[in-house]
Amino acid sequence: MGRSKLKRFKVIAGRLNVIEPGDLLFTSLRGQWATEFFGNSHELVLEVGCGKGDYTVGMANLFPNRNFIGVDIKGSRLWKGSTVAEENGLTNAAFLRNLVELLPDNFAPGELSEIWITFPDPRPKIGDAKKRLTSPRYLNIYESLVKPGGIIHFKTDNLELFRYTLELLESRNPAGLIYTFDLYNSDLQHLTLNIQTTYEKRFRADGIPIKYLQYVNSPTTTLQPINPSEEEK
Ligand SMILES: C[S@@+](CC[C@H](N)C(=O)[O-])C[C@H]1O[C@@H](n2cnc3c(N)ncnc32)[C@H](O)[C@@H]1O
Repeated sequence: MGRSKLKRFKVIAGRLNVIEPGDLLFTSLRGQWATEFFGNSHELVLEVGCGKGDYTVGMANLFPNRNFIGVDIKGSRLWKGSTVAEENGLTNAAFLRNLVELLPDNFAPGELSEIWITFPDPRPKIGDAKKRLTSPRYLNIYESLVKPGGIIHFKTDNLELFRYTLELLESRNPAGLIYTFDLYNSDLQHLTLNIQTTYEKRFRADGIPIKYLQYVNSPTTTLQPINPSEEEK
């Protein structure tokens, strides 16, 4: 491992705005992030696979009365978001180092009001389908953690992943879906808050249309346990 990565790991280990496995708060905040971590009763919004946390930091700047958490497994990337959040004096942004599939250890059902899935790895091989961050096992997690009527947002450059995700969500709650295959030539741009992620900037520079959807978590959805048999689909 490179020296700079090790240095970043050390830095985030001492940061108050980064929670990692082994930290006292890692599981004890479940169901109590707003009151026990942020010290308020504001809504909680999560960015999954956040990388450098561009949405987490961008939204925290835009909405001081909401709490934002970026989740990623890569500490060196979280270091960047946590540094910017610290430099901006953001008390409503935090970062969690964990796997998305383990989020039910960190959050209670219905604890989140929104989730943003930003440019996840497309995982095009059929055998890797269950690792896609929009595969059924992940959607089940998002649907249980987001309160009924809350919103799941998804941005990608990848056409196949977008179609795959649309199909899955259409079979769950078609009435709750809004989408575009070309965000920057659509009238939905305002829904993405004028924030662009690190990967998004690269894809746009290459002329790739950005796809976006938002999905309203059905108010009639009962909180679903994770169903391992769905992974096989
Ligand atoms: C292609 S990058 C996108 C980063 C960022 N959202 C952006 O748009 O710039 C995908 C990110 O997802 C993270 N990731 C992939 N699978 C994950 C998982 N199962 N749990 C947590 N993070 C994951 C990776 O570590 C990586 O930082």
